[in-house]
Amino acid sequence: MNSEMAFLRNEILQCTKCELSKTRNHAIFGEGNEDAAIMIIGEAPGRDEDIQGRPFVGKSGQLLDRILAACGFTRQEHVFISNIVKCRPPENRVPAPHEAAICMPWLLKQIELVDPRILILLGATALKYMAGQEHRITRERGNWFNWQNKLAISVYHPAALLRDPLLKRETWEDFKKVVGKYRELVNPQHYSPYV
Ligand code: URA
Ligand code: SF4
Ligand code: URA
Repeated sequence: MNSEMAFLRNEILQCTKCELSKTRNHAIFGEGNEDAAIMIIGEAPGRDEDIQGRPFVGKSGQLLDRILAACGFTRQEHVFISNIVKCRPPENRVPAPHEAAICMPWLLKQIELVDPRILILLGATALKYMAGQEHRITRERGNWFNWQNKLAISVYHPAALLRDPLLKRETWEDFKKVVGKYRELVNPQHYSPYV
C-alpha cells in the first residue's frame, strides 16, 4: 500500500466523526487493488463485516465474489471495494444523510487515490448518496453516466438479488456491460469465463 493510502487507512480505522463509531467493532477501510481500474461502492458494512473488519464478507459478499469471478475479476487485481459509510449502522439500517455526509470525504479521498476508470455503485443507497436522492436504481441501473469525469454505472445490490433472484438476469446484463467497458478502456485481452 502506498504511504498516502496507508495514512488514509489509519485515519479511517480511528475515525470518530459520527455516532456510528460508538457501536461499531471495526471501521472498514475497504480492500482490493489500490491501483484498480474498477471501484465498487456499496452501502455500509453489515454484521459479518463489522466482526471481521473487511468489506463484503457475508452472504452479499459471497454473491458479489461469484459475480466478479464470472466477469474474470478478482478482488486482488481488478477492483477496489469500499462503502458509502465505513462503520456498521445499528440493525443494518440505511445510513442517515448526516452520517453519509460526514463519512463521504473518506470515500472521495479513496476515489482520488485509486483513480479508477469505472465506478460500480451497488444498490439504491450508493446511487443516491453518490448521484443525488432523486435517482432511482430501478430506472437507472445498467445505464452509464458521468460522475465527476469518471464512468459510473449503478447495479442492484447483491442483497437485493438474494431477496429477489429474478433481478439476477438484469444484473448479469449490467455486469456484461462492465466487462465490455473494461476491455474497451483497460485491457482488450481481458479473459472472463462467461462474457
Ligand atoms: N453490504 C454492503 O453494502 N457493504 C458491505 O461491505 C457488506 C454488505
Ligand atoms: Fe467516521 Fe465514517 Fe465511521 Fe462515521 S461511519 S465514524 S464518519 S468512518
Ligand atoms: N432496492 C434496493 O434497495 N436496492 C436495490 O439494489 C434494488 C432495489
